[in-house]
Amino acid sequence: MIVLGIESSCDETAAAVLADGRRVLSNVVASQDAIHAPYGGVVPELASRRHLEMIVPVVEKALADSGVRLPDLDGIAVTQGPGLVGSLLVGCAVAKSLAYVHRLPLVPVNHLEGHIYATFLTDDPPEHPFLALVVSGGHTALYHARAPHEYGPVGQTRDDAAGEAFDKVAKLLGLGFPGGPVIERVAADGDPKAVMFPLAQMSDGAPDFSFSGLKTSVSLYVRRRGPLGRAEIADVAASFQAVVVKMLVRKTVKAALHHGVKRLVLTGGVAANGHLRQALEAAALEHGLRLHIPPRALCTDNAAMIAAAGTARLAAGARAPLTLNAIPDLALAR
Ligand code: KG4
Ligand code: ZN
Repeated sequence: MIVLGIESSCDETAAAVLADGRRVLSNVVASQDAIHAPYGGVVPELASRRHLEMIVPVVEKALADSGVRLPDLDGIAVTQGPGLVGSLLVGCAVAKSLAYVHRLPLVPVNHLEGHIYATFLTDDPPEHPFLALVVSGGHTALYHARAPHEYGPVGQTRDDAAGEAFDKVAKLLGLGFPGGPVIERVAADGDPKAVMFPLAQMSDGAPDFSFSGLKTSVSLYVRRRGPLGRAEIADVAASFQAVVVKMLVRKTVKAALHHGVKRLVLTGGVAANGHLRQALEAAALEHGLRLHIPPRALCTDNAAMIAAAGTARLAAGARAPLTLNAIPDLALAR
C-alpha cells in the first residue's frame, strides 16, 4: 500500500510518500521557522499564508523524490486536527482536491496519533498496550494506547505545553525561535544545578503537567538579575531544561507503573531533546520498561508520520468524504 501524507497543522508544510506503512520513499518538510522567528512564536495568519505558497511545491517534491505517480497511490492521508485552523485548511483542501481528481481514498489523521505513529517507522515498533508521552509545541499529554487506535486519557498539561515553555524561555533569554533546539545547545555549556527552579506538583496527585509557574520563575529570575552574561544564560537554560525533563520523566514513569504497562513511547517535537531521551531511557531501564522513541527528524512535525497513521487507518477501513473539514480542537483520547 502506497500512501501520500500531507501535514500543515502548525508551521511546517510537509508531504511524504510511504510504502507498506513502514518504508519512507520521500519525506519533505518546509519549515517556516525563519518567518516566525522575529515574533518568538508562530503567527497563525503568516503560517496559513506560507502554507498556501508551499503546499503544491512540497507535494510535488515528495512525489518526485519517491518516484511514485499520483494515480499509483492507494490513498491520501491528511492531518485533520488538532492545530491552527487556517493552516489545517490548506492541507485538507489540497488532499481533498487530489483525492477527487484521482479518485483516491481520503483518510483523516489526528496529528497526535501521527506523532505516535512516527514510532512505527522505526525497526522496533511498539506493541500494544503502551503509554505514550506526546510532548510538542502545542501538546503535552500522556495516553494509554490500549489497542490500535484506542487511546485512553491519562494526563495532560494544565497550562502551557512543554515545547511552548521552551519557546517562551528562549524568548526571555533572547535566544531565538524555535526555543527547544537552541536551549538544548546553549544548556550544554551550563550547570543544570545552578538555579533551583520549582518543579510543579499536583495537589490532587494527578499525572498532569504544569509549566507556567516554571516559566514565571525563569522570567522573575531574569528580571531580578538584570542583563545576563553568556555563562549565566547557559546556567539558566540548563537549569530550566533539567526541571522540564525531571517533570516529564517522573510523571511518565509513575503513570506507566500505575497502568501496569511495560512499554513507553516518547514522541513529539520535544522528544528530539537529547536530555529527555537519555533521562527517560535511564528511568525506563531502572523500572523494567521498554522505551520506543522515533529518530529526532521524525519527532518534530513531518508527513511521514501522518502517512504511517493514515496507512493503518486505511487498512482498518477508514475513509473520509470529500466534505472533510479541519477540526482545530480534535481530541485523541476518549
Ligand atoms: O511536534 P512539533 O514539531 O510541533 C507541534 O506539533 O507543536 O513540536 C515543536 C516544538 C517546539 O516548541 C520546539 O521548541 C520543540 O518542539 N523542540 C524541542 C527540541 N526540538 C524541538 N524542545 C526541546 N528540545 C529540542 N531539541
Ligand atoms: Zn506536532
